[in-house]
Amino acid sequence: MTGRVRAPKGTHDLFPPESERFAAVEATARRIFGGHGYGEIRTPTFESTELFARSVGETTDIVHKEMYTFPDRKGRSLTLRPENTAGVVRALVERGIQEMPRPIRLWYAGPQFRYEQPQAGRYREFRQIGVELVGVPSAAGDAEVLGMLFEFLRALGLTDVSATVNCIPKGDARAAFSRALQEHVRPHAGVLGPDDRKRLEENPLRLFDSKDPEARRILEGAPSTLAFLDEASRAHHEELKSLLPQVGVPFTESASIVRGIDYYTLTVFEVTSQRLGAQNALLGGGRYDDLVADLGGPPTPAVGFAIGEDRLVESMTADARPARTLFAVIPDGPGEVVYALGVAGEIRALLPDAVVESDLTARGIVKSLGRAGQIAKDSSRHAFRIGRVHAVLLGSKEREGDIVTMKDLSTGTQDSFPRRQLAERLAGRER
Ligand code: HAM
Repeated sequence: MTGRVRAPKGTHDLFPPESERFAAVEATARRIFGGHGYGEIRTPTFESTELFARSVGETTDIVHKEMYTFPDRKGRSLTLRPENTAGVVRALVERGIQEMPRPIRLWYAGPQFRYEQPQAGRYREFRQIGVELVGVPSAAGDAEVLGMLFEFLRALGLTDVSATVNCIPKGDARAAFSRALQEHVRPHAGVLGPDDRKRLEENPLRLFDSKDPEARRILEGAPSTLAFLDEASRAHHEELKSLLPQVGVPFTESASIVRGIDYYTLTVFEVTSQRLGAQNALLGGGRYDDLVADLGGPPTPAVGFAIGEDRLVESMTADARPARTLFAVIPDGPGEVVYALGVAGEIRALLPDAVVESDLTARGIVKSLGRAGQIAKDSSRHAFRIGRVHAVLLGSKEREGDIVTMKDLSTGTQDSFPRRQLAERLAGRER
């Protein structure tokens, strides 16, 4: 066979500097979530199919239409994870959640898989950064998670975003809401497609996930989730709304967001961004107080969210990569390469936050300096944003006299000094 093999539809390769933007976002997540006491968990990218059917729910689009499900060689049904909350809860129950000190604070970053129609911001393999707070029943838990989320978004330069929150009734109240919704929609069932008619009978809440304009029109006058809350749920929701401004979370309330997954109870929220359009949420999350018990653990409340990392990176205007000083070490010819490598190593040891690149082509100072100048103007290929740039020029004069010549490319100043003075000459040049 000849010809090119292409990446599967809906996947994308990440080259530098895009890959570095993802890494910088993940580093910010680690710093901010870590600063709130959250530790990283990594769970398998495939799980038993049953896990998602029992958590995300049989009648959701995710389980019904979007999973990559396959039998392994022994005929077990496995699924590439479409989301990570189910895997995290499975792992906690398996590890013995009842023995763990509460609350349990976890975050994760990794690929997820959904067979969706690819378009801008929608992939079949995409990445999520998520957080799960397990063991806190009160609205203070929801507020911690949302406050931390907004701190993270602000750290990435996303300042014009706000959350939309809703509260989904649970238990008897949910059953009453479902009946009221059925009564509202049934007279119009004739215009619904087969999927929505199935939802209407089996899991009416899922009608809110419908993308069919007819269904959306019928739902405009539908009963409100908020009108069906029992007293305790209403108190939870009111408390959350009073806490959010105190933890720096701008929000609006909307009774029509339900976030497409069955495990949610009470709080659900999303953040959309103008750049992505309303159909494509930047992130979604909520409370899932019954999931731990549904997956065989003790009754344990929990709340969390997951950000679409690809969408996040696409909607960022500010560059999250750290600014670093670049030292371009330039030997004048092949005879100076060894001397250059020695000097480069010394600079690296003295300034661990700087980036030191040696020009191994040894094509001569004039050519290499031109290239270093170009690099200084264009940091798009690098893992870092370029701060100051110093060219370290090493010719035969430097090698023979054990001297270093350094040129600051931003100011143009150049000076030569004995190599043993490197430490004092470099002091203060790290940034
Ligand atoms: P979700 O709302 O299904 O929630 O997904 C969260 C985010 O993942 C979405 O808002 C979106 O940004 C991103 N996403 C989903 N599908 C795609 C896709 N095909 N391409 C690109 N990005 C996508 C969950 O997954 C829950 N586990 C969140 C959660 C955590 N709830 C509680 N804890």
